[in-house]
Amino acid sequence: MKDKTLNLICPYLKDCGGCHYDNLPYETQSELKLQHLELCFKEAGLNLPRVQFISLGQNHLRNRFDFTIEANRKGLYGRDKSILDIQACLQITPELQAAYDDFRKIDFGIKKGSVRLRVGPDKNRGVWLDFANIDIKTLLGDGKSFQQLLDLGFQIEIGQKGKSLVKKQGLFKLADPVSSQWFQVHLNNYVSFNLSSLISSFTQPSWTTANSLVEVVHGWVDSLSLDSNALSVCEFGAGIGQFTLPLLSYGHHVDVFEFDQLATEMLAVNAKKSQLQDHLTIYCDDFQKKPIAQIPKYDLALLNPPRSGLKNFVHEVTRLKTKTCIYISCFPESLAQDLKAFVNAGYEIKDVVLVDQFPQTKHFETCVLLQRIDTNT
Ligand SMILES: C[S@@+](CC[C@H](N)C(=O)[O-])C[C@H]1O[C@@H](n2cnc3c(N)ncnc32)[C@H](O)[C@@H]1O
Repeated sequence: MKDKTLNLICPYLKDCGGCHYDNLPYETQSELKLQHLELCFKEAGLNLPRVQFISLGQNHLRNRFDFTIEANRKGLYGRDKSILDIQACLQITPELQAAYDDFRKIDFGIKKGSVRLRVGPDKNRGVWLDFANIDIKTLLGDGKSFQQLLDLGFQIEIGQKGKSLVKKQGLFKLADPVSSQWFQVHLNNYVSFNLSSLISSFTQPSWTTANSLVEVVHGWVDSLSLDSNALSVCEFGAGIGQFTLPLLSYGHHVDVFEFDQLATEMLAVNAKKSQLQDHLTIYCDDFQKKPIAQIPKYDLALLNPPRSGLKNFVHEVTRLKTKTCIYISCFPESLAQDLKAFVNAGYEIKDVVLVDQFPQTKHFETCVLLQRIDTNT
């Protein structure tokens, strides 16, 4: 695709650990990603069919920025494993860069802590501070840094529980989590819908690339649902509804299995706001522990596990004998191992699409369409 940012060269390229290819041409990077995928398949004894490679651009895609504060430095881990103070990152959107510029003005006076910045679809700014409890206590007491963040237009979220911040009688206090619209998804006919979540919730790095994943899934699902309009779908690892809402918007029935309780709450909110809750059932469960006997028959299984893959649960999924499975993975090593189990259970790999969600890094997203061919196994 046409990319206006082709010739941008990052000044931190040699030292920053965030990107991996020392100024290699994008075509070469793409080739290396494809070769890596092929190697993972080969090592698992699988043949990789012809892969479609989708790029949405080489820079400025990310809507969230995760970085670290160490002493007076703010930035990413350098290749020497210390925090590299970086003023700009070519991978984030211009709006996010402007938010990062403002955030850098604040001195929190802490030794070390993790930060996530987000700029939502309505240009709303958010920051998640995952600092030590003792540092949060000091910052609450002092109040200056939090006030600066609020003055710069940031919604603030704190710690692993995603607490919000309230100011009562001039004093800052922690309060229950508050969701806002931090991500976006395309529903049927490309209607955009803003997804509510916490700043700390899992989302894909960019809604531009995430919507491309949704399109790949939709293309495959569309070809399946020609005869019967509504498919019954089970989805493992649904998060806040990136794939769930589009499936519902096309009239399919979706049973979701997701163990992050806050994510399931956000998913319920998102389904209600988009008026798509009627054909959604949410099971807040650890799918590694779900007894298979309780799962009814589905037309389609959609799998989007974490980097570790499906692990032992892969055998539970193949025992479902669902005719079609779609597997979306950010980690080709675990994907290939899981696909081997699918193939051994009588599935065929029909199609593979690579979406370059993480340009300039070795990471990428792989979408795989599986069809059950051996009905005797
Ligand atoms: C890669 S994320 C995908 C989320 C979502 N599909 C998206 O695109 O935003 C993987 C999801 O799987 C969930 N998950 C991981 N292990 C799980 C388990 N054992 N049982 C249920 N859900 C799990 C995580 O909480 C997370 O939401």
